[in-house]
Amino acid sequence: MSENLLQADPARPLPPEVDRRRTFAIISHPDAGKTTLTEKLLLFGGAIQLAGAVKARGAQRRGAHSDWMKVERERGISVGTSVMTYDYGDNTFNLLDTPGHEDFSEDTYRTLTAVDSAVMVLDAAKGIEAQTLKLFEVCRLRNVPIITFINKLDRESRDPFELLEEIEEKLALSVTPASWPIGTGRHFKGCYDLFKDQLILLERSKGERPDEGETCKGVDDPKLDELLPADTLAEFREGVEMARGLCPEFDLKEYLGGHQTPVYFGSAINNFGVRELLEGVGQLAPPPRPQLASERMVQPSDPKVSGFVFKIQANMDPRHRDRIAFVRLASGHFKRGLKMKQIRTGKTLNIHNPLLFLAQDRELAEEAWAGDVIGIPNHGNLHLGDSLTEGEELHFKGLPAFAPELLQKVRPKDPMKAKHLGRALQQLAEEGAARVFKPMMGADWIVGVVGSLQFDVMADRIRTEYDIPVIFEPTIYFTARWLEADDPAVIKGFVESNRSNVAEDHEGELVFMARNAWHLQDAQDTYPAVRFLATRDGA
Ligand code: G4P
Repeated sequence: MSENLLQADPARPLPPEVDRRRTFAIISHPDAGKTTLTEKLLLFGGAIQLAGAVKARGAQRRGAHSDWMKVERERGISVGTSVMTYDYGDNTFNLLDTPGHEDFSEDTYRTLTAVDSAVMVLDAAKGIEAQTLKLFEVCRLRNVPIITFINKLDRESRDPFELLEEIEEKLALSVTPASWPIGTGRHFKGCYDLFKDQLILLERSKGERPDEGETCKGVDDPKLDELLPADTLAEFREGVEMARGLCPEFDLKEYLGGHQTPVYFGSAINNFGVRELLEGVGQLAPPPRPQLASERMVQPSDPKVSGFVFKIQANMDPRHRDRIAFVRLASGHFKRGLKMKQIRTGKTLNIHNPLLFLAQDRELAEEAWAGDVIGIPNHGNLHLGDSLTEGEELHFKGLPAFAPELLQKVRPKDPMKAKHLGRALQQLAEEGAARVFKPMMGADWIVGVVGSLQFDVMADRIRTEYDIPVIFEPTIYFTARWLEADDPAVIKGFVESNRSNVAEDHEGELVFMARNAWHLQDAQDTYPAVRFLATRDGA
């Protein structure tokens, strides 16, 4: 079923609590300003106060930890996890973190399966960069509607029209400006809200608390002549006229279908454009969308609670080996203590300590609605892709596992720790940090990733979280494919003849480890009844 049809069933209006929720992620190339913007969104949302914040830059910028931890380290505020819930105006926002480093990771993909929309941040001097493009493609696969925020207008920037054209061309999207910058670089004064036809002129400040600003209505408001230099104003008025003449009008349906992006300009660090963006997400971005399960489409208005695990975070607190499974609720009104069925195992879980993640704190979730993300502490029994319901057999789709593109052998520096390493790898694999394979022959473990930085991240985590220094080494293997056949005897026969190239993944599923493209092709030709899968539904 095409996901652009995933708008809620008009015959069944959403409960008001669901309707006001906006669950979204920010996608960007590193350094475009995602962290700064996140912080400002929380600040405008009243979720954090930066008074007395400690700014310790130079801390490790890349790494295993989520960007919230980066915020936490750098700004001295307590955040701590991958979801932030805050209110602004009439809306409740759930902002989901996507890992910030350059390597594309499955984690990012999975997070994007749990959002209803995304904000794409671009650097005004750089436009669309490599990582933006990759993340955008993931959003497009799922028809996730996108609002664009062009940041750093306070620096020398490219011409706004040129930027709009680049988005249109590179992303094949219709583009419509939602705001328009007044001057750029040193002369940047702020952004005119084209949708509301007004300007809230702020002082340029990195201030901790954005001021109220001076409001002007319409581009011809005489107040503008008092507040802005004549040449800047003339250029701005001309720009707005051209933008209104040349760009298509905003079309909600096109945006919701993922075909048009409204574009906001701003400078996150100076608080410019942030309020407009926040209100834009509240007004334009969709409320929780229906979610596709194998059995049926699950509507957010369905009264029974259901959801799926899209992320596992282990060892959030190094003193406890706790794991949190992040569950995106697809339907219903969840209340603490609810008994939910884990469809994969058939077991019933009593969810008595679910967590909600507020900017400053995590707290017990007394209740939550479709669209929300709750964290369920567990000891490893919840897996990525697990569906939870009040009893109905539902298997949520769209959380595929990818065949890793890069494989390496891993061994502990201290051979006595081989068993411990096995356990650490199993846990990290369950969390989805990488694929882990145990070949049927030999004592090595093989780790598979989709981006090479993940090897460094893994090595670092195994050392710091499990106290096992490890060495990654090249392997003869080139790729892995999950094995499937209609007749189990066919698989058995294949495994018997190919023992040295067969491994099990962390869930005991069989994979074929190919030495090169020819090896894979040869196996496919020799065993036509075996399917060699590059992705597997459910992680
Ligand atoms: P990221 O999460 O996307 O990687 O970006 P982050 O927010 O960390 O921002 C990257 C750099 O860009 C930071 O500078 C940040 O201060 C700066 N930045 C963010 N928004 C703006 C903006 O609107 N205007 C300007 N001029 N700069 C902006 P840095 O040099 O890495 O750190 P810092 O020491 O300046 O804080």
